[in-house]
Amino acid sequence: MVCWLSLLAIAAVVAVVVWLIALARSDGDLKLMFYAKFGKQPDNLAGKVVWITGASSGIGEYIAYCLAEAGARLVLSARRTEELEKVKQKCLQQGGGGGLCGSTTDCVDFESHKPAVQKVLEFCKILLSIDILINNAGRGQRSPWMEVELDVDRQLFEVNVLGPVSLTQQVLPHMLQRKQGQIVVVSSLAGKISSPYLRSYTASKHAVNGYFESLRTEMGEHNIDVTILCPGPVASNISYVAVTGKLGEVSSSPITPGKLMPTDRCAYLSAVAIANKLYEAWISENPSLVFMYLFQYFPDFARCFMVRVLGLLLLGVKAIATIFDWEGV
Ligand SMILES: NC(=O)c1ccc[n+]([C@@H]2O[C@H](COP(=O)([O-])OP(=O)(O)OC[C@H]3O[C@@H](n4cnc5c(N)ncnc54)[C@H](OP(=O)(O)O)[C@@H]3O)[C@@H](O)[C@H]2O)c1
Repeated sequence: MVCWLSLLAIAAVVAVVVWLIALARSDGDLKLMFYAKFGKQPDNLAGKVVWITGASSGIGEYIAYCLAEAGARLVLSARRTEELEKVKQKCLQQGGGGGLCGSTTDCVDFESHKPAVQKVLEFCKILLSIDILINNAGRGQRSPWMEVELDVDRQLFEVNVLGPVSLTQQVLPHMLQRKQGQIVVVSSLAGKISSPYLRSYTASKHAVNGYFESLRTEMGEHNIDVTILCPGPVASNISYVAVTGKLGEVSSSPITPGKLMPTDRCAYLSAVAIANKLYEAWISENPSLVFMYLFQYFPDFARCFMVRVLGLLLLGVKAIATIFDWEGV
């Protein structure tokens, strides 16, 4: 008996060590890593009509390239027409993206969503349907909690939450009629864990998770899948166009200093998550990924660590910065 228990204990320790090593070497949650190796690849989306919002730069742009290469038929939208046109041309050069269409859509111009969907559907008569909607458009925000104007909260909620919700609400009737489809939303690790100095952004992404988790519970019977992507820090424009605490003011420094995941890698892992219809995927380098696991499975410990240990570290850095007169800390 004692011998069996010892063997079990050793097996458990070995399993935990293997899991920790795998986690340290991962840039996505372990389920996503499994599907990236053994599951469906992006080329499984060949022939699907995919609408990507916020496709003029960053993650949306690279998802477009990845899916164009995979042979998907794309509808790209954003506000900056010139940038969008460049992305469209690059998709076409890659030999993919058959039936590609660009559309200027402001995700906070809610009135424009119905006509935009009609326009896409008319275009899709050639392509037959909208199979997948990827709600990717979004905006960042950075400033101390106390310095945020309520109008900034409102703006972030309109762009990051109500925009995707409104567009999804316009696209869904079409999917419900066909009894198939997939709604994807690009949330963030900030939609799962709390992040300092990102009050409006964190709250908006938590709300995104709430809205689309709720949608999933209703869509099961209609054969419509909901995939929530939660990237960590990724190379993109987000830091350079992020708002501060004041309406109209743009942050000049990167939101997330340190290591950023390459945009094409984030796009590939997003495409894997979409192809395999995963409910949720965490896409991030470490240490953010380890934090995600800590917050998911040991929330009290993670919060305590965040508040006490990181808080003290931050205090230390600020004290040293004051002594040496460093700016921007
Ligand atoms: N990069 C990261 O570290 C990171 C991490 C986690 C989650 N995310 C999420 O990933 C998504 C994409 O962000 P990104 O990092 O790729 O940033 P990005 O390079 O700034 O791209 C944002 C995209 O959203 C579009 N957009 C912004 N406001 C819009 C509006 N009102 N109407 C329509 N389109 C709008 C932009 O196009 P136009 O300006 O041309 O309209 C652009 O194409 C966002 O939802 C973001 O929250 C990013």
